[in-house]
Amino acid sequence: MLPTKTEKAWSGVFTEKTDRRVELFTESISFDRRLYEADILASIAHAQMLADVRILTTDEFQQIADALNDIRREIENAHFEFKIELEDIHMHIEHALIEKIGDVGRKLHTARSRNDQTVTALRLWIRDAIDRIDRCLLAVQTAFVGRCDADFDVILPGYTHLQRAQPVLAPHYWLAYCEKFQRDRERLGDCRKRVNILGLGAAALAGTSLPIDRTKTAEYLGFEDIAANSLDVSSDRDFVLESAFCLAGIALHMSTFAEEWILWSTAEFNFLRPPQPFCTGSSIMPQKVNPDVLELIRGKTARVIGNLQTLLVLTKGLPLAYNRDLQEDKLPIFDAFDTVEAVLSLASPLIEGAVLQRESIRSRLELGYLDATALMEYLIQRGIPQRSAHGIVGRLVRLAMERAVPLASLPMSDFQAIHDAFDMGVFSVLGASNAVAAMQSYGSTAPSEVRKQIDVWKAKIERERAAG
Ligand code: ARG
Repeated sequence: MLPTKTEKAWSGVFTEKTDRRVELFTESISFDRRLYEADILASIAHAQMLADVRILTTDEFQQIADALNDIRREIENAHFEFKIELEDIHMHIEHALIEKIGDVGRKLHTARSRNDQTVTALRLWIRDAIDRIDRCLLAVQTAFVGRCDADFDVILPGYTHLQRAQPVLAPHYWLAYCEKFQRDRERLGDCRKRVNILGLGAAALAGTSLPIDRTKTAEYLGFEDIAANSLDVSSDRDFVLESAFCLAGIALHMSTFAEEWILWSTAEFNFLRPPQPFCTGSSIMPQKVNPDVLELIRGKTARVIGNLQTLLVLTKGLPLAYNRDLQEDKLPIFDAFDTVEAVLSLASPLIEGAVLQRESIRSRLELGYLDATALMEYLIQRGIPQRSAHGIVGRLVRLAMERAVPLASLPMSDFQAIHDAFDMGVFSVLGASNAVAAMQSYGSTAPSEVRKQIDVWKAKIERERAAG
């Protein structure tokens, strides 16, 4: 057993040294060191509050704040030594503080425990990370909206069951993703409200007999609210779970997008070519250009969902209040944020650089009877009940299929032989672009509606960019 060099902050009651294997097993410094900045911010705010209520003198606060800022710089410049014996980032920083300023440093942990300290640092870190993800989502939306004008004249098959269904404008696809990512952003924003709550001051689990002022700490750290129950504070990881759920939702949307574009970039579809710098080749098949980035966007979704699952299982059945199990919350939540950030950062340039294969799309657009529904609605507008119109068009599609021609190539006599409500006007709804143009409902793929939505999105993005 190796003797440890550093005395533990909690060693008073102990007569024996911690087993080295226990130190290795219980440490979190290897992964929670990235909370250093949040921990220092929270400590400075805490010390400032302690000075406000005269538990510290102004001079003591200043010494603590200065030393903590020095420690922050040392960590940033890699002049800081991390050791397993000091367990976690919180102990490291406090230990370094005491080494610098002695007894004054020993006062920082007044009216605080690592239980409320850890959640405070984690809340601050997640708050920042949410803001970063939100900016990435805005960048993805911007990339999609940025394509809309140039792609306005492209009609794509819309699918249900991955079977050709009805024609839609390409920008209608792009804006569908904008809507999904907007809900993701709203969910994150809502989650942020529950992240942005001060836990500090709950101390270990019961609060403190010292006359602290939590409103001050909350104000210094920009928290919107103060947790009202100290037992809840050190046991609550809802904010971590909720963040992970939001991230899993984003990853799912990204995965759908990636899957669609992977299909579209096959020779079979040939709708789209991802930018070459975002593709990779094969070590054996010289002709291959593979959409690996899209595949990894889809693949990494598994990690994010796994992280959510880990957090759910981790927190299941823990009694109040803090339990050491909770230290395990960090790896999955850090990984979830890192993964989603990486995915979104690659998605934006990939979306911007992809090239629609217009000729290939156009050459096969009249396959699959995408205009059948528009034809049915043409009959409905002439007073035919929907169920009857559906049957009539079904028979026409069967006829056209037998002859292997599109509906628009059937002669008028065939239409009229099936129903006398048909007149020459029928040709104005047949064909993919007529079928699209015939649309008019709000939210539909009607060019006028899509145009309105593009304008709405452009204005929204403009506003958000201006707001910074
Ligand atoms: N590193 C620990 C964590 O992240 C800090 C809390 C330790 N608290 C305790 N009472 N042992 O959860």
